[in-house]
Amino acid sequence: MYARRRLARRGDTGAAPVSSGAGDNGESARNRTRPDQMPSLFDPFTTRGLTPPHRIVVSPMCEYSSVDGFATDWHLVHLGSRAVGGAALVITEATAVTAEGRISPNDLGIYTDAHVEMLHRIVRFIHGQGGAAGMQLAHAGRKGSTARPWEGHSAVPEAEGGWIPVGPGHEPFSETYPVPRALETDEIGGIVDAFRDAAIRARDAGFDMLELHGAHGYLIHEFLSPITNKRTDRYGGSFENRIRLCLETTDAVREVWPEQSPLWLRISATDWVPGGWDVDDAVELSRRVREHGVDLIDCSSGGLALNQQIRLGPGYQVPFAERIRREAHIATGAVGLITTAQQADEIIRQEKADCVLLAREMLRDPYFPLHAAQQLGGKLPWPAQYLRVAPDGAPRRQSRGD
Ligand SMILES: Cc1cc2nc3c(=O)[nH]c(=O)nc-3n(C[C@H](O)[C@H](O)[C@H](O)COP(=O)(O)O)c2cc1C
Repeated sequence: MYARRRLARRGDTGAAPVSSGAGDNGESARNRTRPDQMPSLFDPFTTRGLTPPHRIVVSPMCEYSSVDGFATDWHLVHLGSRAVGGAALVITEATAVTAEGRISPNDLGIYTDAHVEMLHRIVRFIHGQGGAAGMQLAHAGRKGSTARPWEGHSAVPEAEGGWIPVGPGHEPFSETYPVPRALETDEIGGIVDAFRDAAIRARDAGFDMLELHGAHGYLIHEFLSPITNKRTDRYGGSFENRIRLCLETTDAVREVWPEQSPLWLRISATDWVPGGWDVDDAVELSRRVREHGVDLIDCSSGGLALNQQIRLGPGYQVPFAERIRREAHIATGAVGLITTAQQADEIIRQEKADCVLLAREMLRDPYFPLHAAQQLGGKLPWPAQYLRVAPDGAPRRQSRGD
């Protein structure tokens, strides 16, 4: 069914823009567009066959607005508004690869073929605004079956639509979270397969890039961290064993995800807990996944343990992006308390990261990219419908492929 839609999409939007870096694992993201100058926020950047026109990305944000995993009008308007606002790349919220991999019963999912149709509509709208569309694939692990934040975050009982979540062990995240069931060794392949199947569906929905969610205390991160992974099988113990699920998932997704399309990995660069997963581990993992076809590391942190001690401040996670970029020789995305155009531009100009991801500021101001361009003296295209109020000389926006 949706194979036909995929062909239609290609017809709608034309080929992906400039390809100069297929299979280069993000190296080209660091190729400067003007060899004599540092890249700036409004320079394009290339990973594999995708070249977003600038470097402002909408960070994944759970909307808790789905029923049975289906995207709704809310998603179309929420993601669509950020595309109208001029984001180069709009990434969906954590999208569950299985029903039990949802954080809440209201999470977005891509675990049945029926989920594809509405997602395809959203992608088409983003493309119509000249943006690229990304999907974050996720499994919530032991943090599954919890209520949405405005309903209190604690465990949802099975009688009320909840389920028993799975994790590397049976320790809950907190007293109010559900007690997970520890995954049997021979069940783990099924989770990897679910990521693979989800990637096929994301491809068929027309997404341009995928991000694997390996951060914030969800399943992949739970396997990475020695705090949550106390397993004694080949998925636990040594660093090598703890990264196995992440590598197997990467391989499975890469197998079906088009060669020309970038694959990102979001990680928590540190647990912010002594003895937990730390930046040295993150650098080594980044080197390893690069060999497995990941093109960019999206550098977040924390979310695994209640006793984390985070040192918050503007751009507090940027040093992780900078270090991983330098030491693992892979493109990185910086995220976390990036709120102004100048701050975002400096991160790129100082080569601390290859792109910036913004979450909360994009909720406050869906037009952040258009406003940032005005402040920095750039010229982003405006939607034709809004040209009357655009700055003098602003070009008219073209659909991707126009
Ligand atoms: C409402 C909301 C929902 C979020 N959902 C996700 C998510 O689905 N996946 C994810 O990796 N991070 C999620 N995050 C984290 C953001 O992507 C981002 O990393 C974090 O908010 C820090 O960036 P900021 O300071 O620009 O908000 C969410 C954040 C917010 C505010």
